[in-house]
Amino acid sequence: MPLVRVPATTANLGPGFDTLGMALELFDEIQIELAPALEISVSGEGAATIPRGPENIAYRAAQAVFERAGRLPGNLKIAMYNHIPVARGLGSSAAALVGGLVGANALLGGVLKQEDLINLATALEGHPDNVAPAILGGLVVAARDGERVYCRRLEPPAGLTTVAAIPQFTLSTRVSRGALPARVTMSDAVFNLSRVGLLLAAVQDGDLELMGKMMDDRLHQPYRLSLVPGMEEVFAAARAAGALAVTLSGSGPTVIAFCQGRNPCVGPAMAAAFARHGVACIVKELAPCSRGAVVLE
Ligand code: HSE
Repeated sequence: MPLVRVPATTANLGPGFDTLGMALELFDEIQIELAPALEISVSGEGAATIPRGPENIAYRAAQAVFERAGRLPGNLKIAMYNHIPVARGLGSSAAALVGGLVGANALLGGVLKQEDLINLATALEGHPDNVAPAILGGLVVAARDGERVYCRRLEPPAGLTTVAAIPQFTLSTRVSRGALPARVTMSDAVFNLSRVGLLLAAVQDGDLELMGKMMDDRLHQPYRLSLVPGMEEVFAAARAAGALAVTLSGSGPTVIAFCQGRNPCVGPAMAAAFARHGVACIVKELAPCSRGAVVLE
């Protein structure tokens, strides 16, 4: 009975909207087995809110694997042991989805290749920037071409650490995407394109300083400011405390700072800035995670 461990992820990394993501050392575990009837249990994060019925993300993902493999849908017993805060921009839904896919694939003896799992995960999630690093680990750049996802995994630069300020309120990706405009200007598109290109070059060179300078964004974060009270001040506080860069993690509301080595000042500075706007948050120092989803049993 497969037990799958899946990392949290931070998507976008600033300018790489729907394109870049990185796995983090914070994990959910999902156990899947065939059973006489559907049975889903959830402990830890989201225990009170995650659905136990057929709409459960891990269950739907597992069924998609059965279908893709040409097998009849099976009844499943799924146990979720969660550490990734839910609906905060740290890839909790991607982790559930990937756990369901990888677990079901293991149950079927590995019929689907990793590439198939990434394509399927992206189709289910709608964008690749959380699911691809959740599967591959490391820092991933991904591009969709219809059903197919092209991606490359890069090793996060040595010495890179992150500090996440995780507000105690949830923000759904659907709502956060609803704030985005249908069109952007050519100058804003060029701003982001140039930064994504140089950011990836900096990652490959292990140049943390350049990486940090290339993490500004004009395509999504400015439009999400009203959804995260105090966001601009939290960004400024992280920078003033010595962070190399600071971004919204995925679609928020978590704000994540990127640092060289451990910086104990950044987390408290971000939490104090959030508090000035009436937002309680928890702070987690999270190292980049080199390993993607893994079957432990
Ligand atoms: N790229 C997605 C977004 C990530 O920003 O909406 C969601 O986690």
